[in-house]
Amino acid sequence: MGRLIIISNRLPFSIDHEGDQLTLRQSSGGLVSAIKSYIESDSSKNRGFTEKLWAGVADFPQNEWTVVAEKLSGRDFQIIPLFVNKLVYKDYYNGFSNSVLWPLFHYFPNLVEYQAHYYDAYVKVNRAFADKLIPVLQPDDTIWIHDYQLMLLPEMLRTERPDITVGFFLHIPFPSYELFRTLPTECKSSLLKGVLGSDLIGFHTHDYAQHFLQSVKMILGVDSNFHNIQYQDRLIKADLFPISIDYKKFNKACDDPETKAYYREIKNNFEGRKIIFSVDRLDYTKGLMDRLNAFDHFLEQYPEWREKVVFILNIVPSRDDIQAYTERKQQIEQKIGTINGKISTITWQPIIYRYTHLPFTELAALYKAADAALITPLRDGMNLVAKEYVASSSGKRGVLILSELAGAANELNEALLVNPTDIIEVSKAIHRALTMPQEEQQHRITLMQQRLSDYDVIKWVSDFLDQLSNVKAEQQKQQ
Ligand code: UDP
Ligand code: G6P
Repeated sequence: MGRLIIISNRLPFSIDHEGDQLTLRQSSGGLVSAIKSYIESDSSKNRGFTEKLWAGVADFPQNEWTVVAEKLSGRDFQIIPLFVNKLVYKDYYNGFSNSVLWPLFHYFPNLVEYQAHYYDAYVKVNRAFADKLIPVLQPDDTIWIHDYQLMLLPEMLRTERPDITVGFFLHIPFPSYELFRTLPTECKSSLLKGVLGSDLIGFHTHDYAQHFLQSVKMILGVDSNFHNIQYQDRLIKADLFPISIDYKKFNKACDDPETKAYYREIKNNFEGRKIIFSVDRLDYTKGLMDRLNAFDHFLEQYPEWREKVVFILNIVPSRDDIQAYTERKQQIEQKIGTINGKISTITWQPIIYRYTHLPFTELAALYKAADAALITPLRDGMNLVAKEYVASSSGKRGVLILSELAGAANELNEALLVNPTDIIEVSKAIHRALTMPQEEQQHRITLMQQRLSDYDVIKWVSDFLDQLSNVKAEQQKQQ
């Protein structure tokens, strides 16, 4: 067994500057949560990789790398930072990745702002990854490329090193062909050809995999047989691998004294009140405005809950150089102010709002303390927060209210599934959650916990890597 090389735009840590001090914290988002849990686990050691590496864009100046490298020393995986020119990075990250692919793939075509130079920068950064990695690749490496920012990279690596083993995983939805086809001609076929440089292509759900296969057929004229694609004399597989979480870490989090103390503090602070909790990156896909409207409606329709419930809403800063994001922050904060201003009393405020990154101890304590989690994205590839909430429940209590448009809804059938834009339905679901008998909560949570503990992040990675080896073996047989 050779080395495991993870490649993603986002590195597992981000840098916070406080005066001259530089501190590292875990980067936000589901991709980093999942891959970091695996790469730091014993299972990744047990699989026998000789070395583990993680390549990503360094969004800090090159002269800070020595200090960062020192802080990272002692980890059992090595970071390969890619330094990219600031302007190119902006067009690649804010531009093509997050103002074209992200909105389009999440069914927000009206927010797509295609510009040719955005795509040029996207090609350049994918090329920069290839140029950095090709010289260091070894024949028995397992390369695993992640997400929409790097769709061209598999083909770029394959062209130079036809023998390599490459997996690609898309962490966001793959949209229906009708949406994907709206991309400029050269760009959409290059993206598909880029991904087809992989041996195995993974998606969260059956639908996303089917959408991809249909686009490959309609745009490239390449047929698939079940999940197999024969492309340029090579067998490629596109299959579903629903991403998961480190179940034990969340389920046992309150064994840690600091988390337990924080949990007690929350419970004491809101004694006699039900707690609704949500945590999301600030992103228009997360349905924050509709969620607030639904909570507002709930307080109007069920006045008996006033002073008896608090909604702890934690928003994690994200992509704050992009107008579609900053605009929404203002609207959301205004709405929170309006609701709080309207019905707060001297001793009660309905929404406790924070705009910050949460350390794990606080996050885990909040999950455990919450009587209900309100997770209502308008679209979401998977949504790991929903799974983390379920895993964190102990004493088998707590109710998950989940958007039917999140990938996670396919697996978490015992949640109260809602249409996130239907504020009446969501407001009724909140009432139902807060009045749900203990036995019913227990029944629902137990079933969901069982599923998550059976298929945790380790199983997800193992499945993907096993399938990748299988595809390689089948390719050998074909030769
Ligand atoms: N999370 C985080 N920082 C925080 C709070 C939460 O990184 O301050 C984590 C959370 O635990 C979860 C991930 O961010 O693992 C969010 O993943 P999800 O799939 O729900 O959404 P994404 O942000 O990837 O769209
Ligand atoms: C989603 C994407 C990831 C991304 C994360 C955080 O989970 O699928 O690729 O890393 O959001 O977003 P950011 O732009 O900060 O990396």
